Amino acid sequence: MKRILTILAALAISFTAVADEGMWLLPLLKQLNGKDLKAAGCKLSPDEIYSINKTSLKDAIVHFGGGCTAEMISEKGLLVTNHHCGYSSIHALSSDEHNYLMDGYWAKNLKEEIPCPGLTVTFLVSMEDVTKAIEEATDKQAAEDTLEKAAQEANPGCRIQVTGFYNDNVHYLIVYRTYEDVRFVGAPPASMGKFGGETDNWMWPRHTCDFSMFRVYAGKDNLPAAYSEDNVPYKPAKSLKVSLKGVQEGDYAMVMGYPGRTQRYQTAEQLKQMIQINRIRIDARTVRQDLMWEAMCADPSVQLKYADTYAGSANGWKKWQGEELAFEALNIIGREEEKEASLKAWIEADPARKAKYGDPVAVLAKKVAGETEAKKAFTLLTEAPYSIELVQLAGGVSGLYGRALRGGQDSLAAFESAKAQMKEEYDNYVVELDRKEAVALLEFYRKNAKPEDYLWEGFAEADIPAYVEDLFGRSAFTSFEKLSAAPSFAALDDDPVVLLYKNIYEVIMKYVPAIYYNVDPSGKRASKNFAAALMEWQKGKAMYPDANSTMRLTYGHVLPYSPKDALKYEYFTTSAGLLEKEDPSNPEFILPAGIKDLLLAGDFGRWADKKDGKLHTCFLTNNDITGGNSGSPVLDAKGNLIGLAFDGNWESMSSDVMFEPDLQRCICVDIRYVLWLVEKYGKADNIIGEITYVK
Ligand code: ARG
Repeated sequence: MKRILTILAALAISFTAVADEGMWLLPLLKQLNGKDLKAAGCKLSPDEIYSINKTSLKDAIVHFGGGCTAEMISEKGLLVTNHHCGYSSIHALSSDEHNYLMDGYWAKNLKEEIPCPGLTVTFLVSMEDVTKAIEEATDKQAAEDTLEKAAQEANPGCRIQVTGFYNDNVHYLIVYRTYEDVRFVGAPPASMGKFGGETDNWMWPRHTCDFSMFRVYAGKDNLPAAYSEDNVPYKPAKSLKVSLKGVQEGDYAMVMGYPGRTQRYQTAEQLKQMIQINRIRIDARTVRQDLMWEAMCADPSVQLKYADTYAGSANGWKKWQGEELAFEALNIIGREEEKEASLKAWIEADPARKAKYGDPVAVLAKKVAGETEAKKAFTLLTEAPYSIELVQLAGGVSGLYGRALRGGQDSLAAFESAKAQMKEEYDNYVVELDRKEAVALLEFYRKNAKPEDYLWEGFAEADIPAYVEDLFGRSAFTSFEKLSAAPSFAALDDDPVVLLYKNIYEVIMKYVPAIYYNVDPSGKRASKNFAAALMEWQKGKAMYPDANSTMRLTYGHVLPYSPKDALKYEYFTTSAGLLEKEDPSNPEFILPAGIKDLLLAGDFGRWADKKDGKLHTCFLTNNDITGGNSGSPVLDAKGNLIGLAFDGNWESMSSDVMFEPDLQRCICVDIRYVLWLVEKYGKADNIIGEITYVK
């Protein structure tokens, strides 16, 4: 307890923050960053960025669909986010007949906006530090529950969450308001929204027009309401103005959004484990993605069906490879170990400190050593045999059936409802592809698993292609029609996929308890102590907590970088690069005809750069972002929108673990490129007219 109070006291004294690094907590901005924000060039006060008493910038920023960020850009609930953030929703609305994903879409009025069932948009209402109440309680869970209950009563209709920061040394009670009537407004064709595909992903120089637009709808009272034709566009407390001034090197720039996860308070041993586990993921996904890609290139209909699955899989796959390379190149483990050695020396120099913190690094090393093999085995199972779609389909039916039973339906009704809910899954299922994947994934598993983790007796010498042939030949899960024809859930009991599912499950369950249930609390305590010790050790330096999908601010400047000796990267790209990269024979680099004509004609209109007359496409800042920040607004010193953050750069892929001031950049799409496309290609004057501009 005493330690916590020291931390709180430490947070209250004045700090020196340095711009660039840091995903800063909004309620602490005034205290930790006030002076530095100003010195960096920000023209807004911390209060204008975040306040719970009056309208502030934070009211324009939303958590989009749970995994991305978006921002309000009109007084009628219009929002903009990345194309890759809207991807799943646009994919779900698309078919071979209405291929919004590949062809793009522009609603020309409210009536043409398309509801997206399941998509939500969440506003942050407030954050309150409740550390003291939680740390002082003997039963922390009960204390959390009490706080949540009181907040729920005070904020009807809101979602309340107590969230831990700095490895659970600090706790905030956060109030959110979620809207569930969100409609698709417009997006470029995927060839523009994802221009450069996986080849350019995580890379600079970049030319991707990574945006999509949606609108939040509310009841007549402006509060959340389930989808209804009677709902009206939501009126946000704050919406962003768009700056058409463009960016110059050295300009102040800040990003507000919902970074997902970072590992900046983890020990070298924990990081080594992460890299080992990710290697398994990379290898398994290579097997699966190669087959998917081949099938997608051969058939546009398969391409559409698998577009979302492929993009999701490949994004992590490439990220982890870059991370592995950057760990080596930047000696991440070595630097972390050095830091830990100094921390240890500092702790041990004072008996009181030693008593307070112990040796958290050693405790965590022991925890890691005890669990790494289990985690690797578990990952191999989930990435290989468990990823066979047929296995997932069987699991899906069984899960939905179980839920319906628990909801009180009788077994026949439960089965019918489970089947009906699986229809969409089957719409995107290509059985011939899955059959190939099944062979490859089972063979991959056999090659990499320990013999005691083999899936069935005789697995070592099984003829896997023959096994898969038989599996797919006899299973009722291979098509929606066959599944629909099954008379009852019980009739599927002997299905060969159910048997395979059980086999996989049995092996998975060997590892689940050790990883998830019987976790030794000493690890959690050590992790908390590790962060607390780091904070006390570096007292005087402002510290920000690891990302955890809560709203943060990162601020810095527009800057170029040097990826390696003698090479310098400009801080912006122009449309000339689109034409340079264009390659009609490569599906990742196709320019839609209409776009190409506009570019060749130099038709940039009011969106051209005032200085050089060119169409600027993307630019770089040294803002500190990670996954989840995708779609976040990039704002100028006055809080006007200048772009959207959408990626990180290859040379600093270890950025979730350590910030690299000279190398790490945030890749942003220039808002003028976005609006050029909306106006000139989409001809959506309705959208252009809704936005307020700063010239
Ligand atoms: N790397 C980006 C991120 O994780 C996603 C980019 C999506 N584009 C793509 N080509 N897969 O935020």
